[in-house]
Amino acid sequence: MKKQLKILFVSSEVAPFAKTGGLADVSGSLPKVLKEMNHDVRIVMPKYGSINERKYVLREVIRLKDIKVTMGDKDAVADVKSSFLPNTKVQVYFVGNKDYFNRKGYYGDPVTNEDWPDNAERFGFFSHSCLEILKKLHWQPDIIHCNDWQTALIPFYLKTLYNDESFFDETKTLLSIHNLAFQGIFEKDNISFLNVEEFELQPGGELDFGGRINFLKAGILHSDVISTVSKTYAKEIQKSEEFGFGLQSYLKKRSKDLFGIVNGIDYDEWNPETDKLIPNNYTKNDLSGKVKNKIALIEKFGLKFDPNIPLIGTVSRLTDQKGFDIITKAIDDMMKLDLQYVILGVGEVKYQNLLKKYAKKYSKKLAIEIQYDNKLAHEIEAGSDIFLMPSKFEPCGLNQLYSLKYGTIPIVRSTGGLADTIKNYTPETGRGYGFVFDDYSSKALLQVVKKAIELFKNQDTWKKLINRAMKQDFSWSKAAEKYVELYNSMNIQ
Ligand code: ADP
Ligand code: GLC
Repeated sequence: MKKQLKILFVSSEVAPFAKTGGLADVSGSLPKVLKEMNHDVRIVMPKYGSINERKYVLREVIRLKDIKVTMGDKDAVADVKSSFLPNTKVQVYFVGNKDYFNRKGYYGDPVTNEDWPDNAERFGFFSHSCLEILKKLHWQPDIIHCNDWQTALIPFYLKTLYNDESFFDETKTLLSIHNLAFQGIFEKDNISFLNVEEFELQPGGELDFGGRINFLKAGILHSDVISTVSKTYAKEIQKSEEFGFGLQSYLKKRSKDLFGIVNGIDYDEWNPETDKLIPNNYTKNDLSGKVKNKIALIEKFGLKFDPNIPLIGTVSRLTDQKGFDIITKAIDDMMKLDLQYVILGVGEVKYQNLLKKYAKKYSKKLAIEIQYDNKLAHEIEAGSDIFLMPSKFEPCGLNQLYSLKYGTIPIVRSTGGLADTIKNYTPETGRGYGFVFDDYSSKALLQVVKKAIELFKNQDTWKKLINRAMKQDFSWSKAAEKYVELYNSMNIQ
């Protein structure tokens, strides 16, 4: 019989409780599948002020009330509540602390877009609390599955602060990296709250990063195994500064322990046949609902529907990573083509302003919504003909996978998870279900957009493309199996 594993899954965002991007989708869906595979999996996340305690039925856990967490020469208190991932039996622990988490914005101030100045303290506290919670629960997991820099001090603490505690002797750590562009880099002054020894901060020390401190580096050096969210990204991040952002040499040193597992997606949430957030459901055999969704979406954005004109959609954080420098450079030329384009996103102010300016200039063809809106994200997937995602780098990417399921043909750049998941359409063989381009330039982007809208004119071929796209299966089960193999490979008795 297969061994049931005890897995603590730690993440700074988990859908539907708190989400800024794909990490939340992964954290809200992988544990669910692991539980269905009969593993004992529990989640820990911060209790942000915006999480609705009533809606999600958060309850006090007597044992986990007022846990003292040592922060250098002071103590902080973790007040932990618990609930379940909706419609599952996956228990979620919410770490509360009114000074650290009771504010709007998970990582930064939503008004100024600036990171919170005390993020090192907030997520140092969070990581430290997770280990104290386990002790209070008397629950010894086989695996602590950490995600990104916000949790990367856990492997470090286990090998330093908690090294002599036999409670954790059998516990192994996996650190999943979802994006090397975010590492948790902070100044070294006044960080006694991290309980770090002086020598670890010195040049060459395990936390030192060119005179500053780097949470992700500490996690990379100390976790038993490391994973990232696609095979290509696993290679890219060891290769160069461009992808490794200064950590490439450390990742390369751990090459034997570094694995790429492409994300799955949750078809309970993202499925045009059952999606309750879209006006009309549809299947690959009957796309009439998709056409109605396109009409509704176009009207919602204040454009005019024309069945012969393809609608391109983008849902994204507005950052360099997602290709907005080449999109904004290409816009003037794109607007000369027979197409319409709708964008939903929040992010860098420069892109918000530029896009608003273009939307004014090309008000018949381009419309933009600067906000975070999950329903509209679903409507765009369901109503667009083409999804544009020309990322500069992309660890995995989920939107191209949602697009396939909704029969919305993705245009992607060949990098990271985009390269691993989207097969380029080749007219000669009639294979493929997307458009993939290599060169990161507005010129290459424009060329591929032209190719796609040219093919759109041939509706018979286009429908075949849709059919192939909708047939692809990126459900979590395969990826979850791979995670279990990885957990099992960590010498568990
Ligand atoms: P990343 O995590 O790098 O932002 P992914 O493609 O992995 O990229 O995941 C992005 C997730 O965030 C998707 O579920 C997408 O629908 C969602 N998303 C991004 N921006 C918005 C927005 N403005 N409104 C609603 N959902 C958004
Ligand atoms: C990160 C990456 C994205 C990935 C997501 C979930 O936010 O940017 O590519 O899909 O994490 O792993």
